[in-house]
Amino acid sequence: MDFIWKVTLLSVFTVSGQGKVLTGSFWHITDLHWDPTYSLNGNSASVCNSSGNRPTPDAGKFGDYLCDSPWDLINSSMHAMRDILPDPDFIIWTGDDTPHVPNEDLGEEAVLRIIGNLTQIIKELFPSTKVYSALGNHDYHPKSQLPPEQNSIYEQIQKQWESWLDPASRDTFKKGGYYTEKLLNQTGLRVLVLNTNLYYDQNKITENINDPADQFRWADQVLSEAAKNMEKVYIVGHVPPGFFEKKRHKPWFRPQFNKHYLELIQKHHDIIIGQFFGHHHTDSFRLFYDKAGIPISAMFLTPGVTPWKTTLPGVDDGANNPGIRVFEYDEKTLLVKDMITYYLNLTHANIARARWEKEYRLTEAFGVPDASPASMHHVLEQIAGDNCYLQKYYDFNSVNYDRTACGADCRVDHVCAMREVDFDAYELCVVKEGASSAAPALLTVALAATLGMWASY
Ligand SMILES: *[C@@H]1O[C@H](CO)[C@@H](O)[C@H](O)[C@H]1NC(C)=O
Ligand SMILES: *[C@@H]1O[C@H](CO)[C@@H](O)[C@H](O)[C@H]1NC(C)=O
Ligand SMILES: *[C@@H]1O[C@H](CO)[C@@H](O)[C@H](O)[C@H]1NC(C)=O
Ligand SMILES: *[C@@H]1O[C@H](CO)[C@@H](O)[C@H](O)[C@H]1NC(C)=O
Ligand SMILES: *[C@@H]1O[C@H](CO)[C@@H](O)[C@H](O)[C@H]1NC(C)=O
Ligand SMILES: [Zn+2]
Ligand SMILES: [Zn+2]
Repeated sequence: MDFIWKVTLLSVFTVSGQGKVLTGSFWHITDLHWDPTYSLNGNSASVCNSSGNRPTPDAGKFGDYLCDSPWDLINSSMHAMRDILPDPDFIIWTGDDTPHVPNEDLGEEAVLRIIGNLTQIIKELFPSTKVYSALGNHDYHPKSQLPPEQNSIYEQIQKQWESWLDPASRDTFKKGGYYTEKLLNQTGLRVLVLNTNLYYDQNKITENINDPADQFRWADQVLSEAAKNMEKVYIVGHVPPGFFEKKRHKPWFRPQFNKHYLELIQKHHDIIIGQFFGHHHTDSFRLFYDKAGIPISAMFLTPGVTPWKTTLPGVDDGANNPGIRVFEYDEKTLLVKDMITYYLNLTHANIARARWEKEYRLTEAFGVPDASPASMHHVLEQIAGDNCYLQKYYDFNSVNYDRTACGADCRVDHVCAMREVDFDAYELCVVKEGASSAAPALLTVALAATLGMWASY
């Protein structure tokens, strides 16, 4: 009955040129990084182990920019989700649940307990919501060493997430930490949840394996089958391909895996309607192009809940305010129509109260009709070409934490990371954009020639 009702409404609205009834919404949350040691009651200089002994004089109830999330922040973010959108179509949760502390301070049991606590609060607050949950590199002990075969951690996490997983998903999850299902059990819609931690350059176990856990072969097969069945697909994962926009020349994937991932998207882009990843803790996106330079796919990088300031050398002041995000999408075509990011001003929360505010709505902030690859390409061109848009994007990037000016080098870092997922193309972009923002075009030629890069044209 429900189905017929919707179809009837659809035809009515199609005639009148609208289609609003088909807009659904879902949450994307990522990088919660709960630190169970966070406590204001101790008497040491630091209130949490994840600060790595950095002093935390400003720490408060909802956290500190040098620490991973206290339970109060986890709880606050989950309740904010329930207050803002209590009945989403589904939730995408892209991992990294444990704190940034040495392996010796965690262990397998602690990792599983932390994942269990976060799973539990999501189930408590969203008891009848389907959750598509991906493993992060911090959801394993030792961290980032996710194996390409069945093991007891995958098995136990599978048990925790059992009620969210279709029976077939349980099998592939136990073997490789990945799975695919029909999106909300609907014909024509599909989700692929990948374990891209297998491609992370910190993962020593998979370093010399051609296709860890057979995931590329499997994904190619699933996507080929999906194309035959005229399905539309979302891809979900934790560690993204391409480069970190806050540190020049910093990729996450090993080179051969980055290439392979890019090829997978280029081959199947017709049916891949959106990609949703985390790991950066910042708010950004990535564009994929075909050989003719047409934008074919967009990857959305959702900011983290943890405010933790990264210790990655070369990143200056890399903390963020806690963020959570709603996507609006066309329930029939999966077109991403909009995204709305909500955030907690952590400074304000600690001195007054936890107030989750709308940070921005994509279509309003950047004047685009939706979040299709073509629209996201337009957003990127605006950021690249207009300092007002660049600064707006840059404020959003740290979820309003770092509101300093994004200068010429910063512009190159961000624009090239968003535009070029391929390693060689990124390096070329850095040369080209660096020269164009600093000096006349002639310098581009000189620099590129010096670096011997014309060959790749
Ligand atoms: C969680 O947050 C809600 C909403 O702010 C609050 O009512 C509740 O007391 C909190 N629970 C815990 C255990 O802090
Ligand atoms: C936190 O760090 C302190 C000091 O380094 C250490 O003694 C303690 O065991 C750590 N706590 C946990 C739970 O790892
Ligand atoms: C976490 O889960 C354990 C059981 O595994 C429970 O004892 C503990 O109270 C939970 N902690 C929180 C903060 O929910
Ligand atoms: C999915 O749909 C199939 C067939 O329509 C049905 O048998 C199955 O119970 C559904 N599964 C869920 C989880 O709703
Ligand atoms: C966050 O709150 C602090 C303290 O109230 C305030 O100074 C700061 O401007 C706020 N930041 C934003 C982005 O509103
Ligand atoms: Zn993380
Ligand atoms: Zn991560």
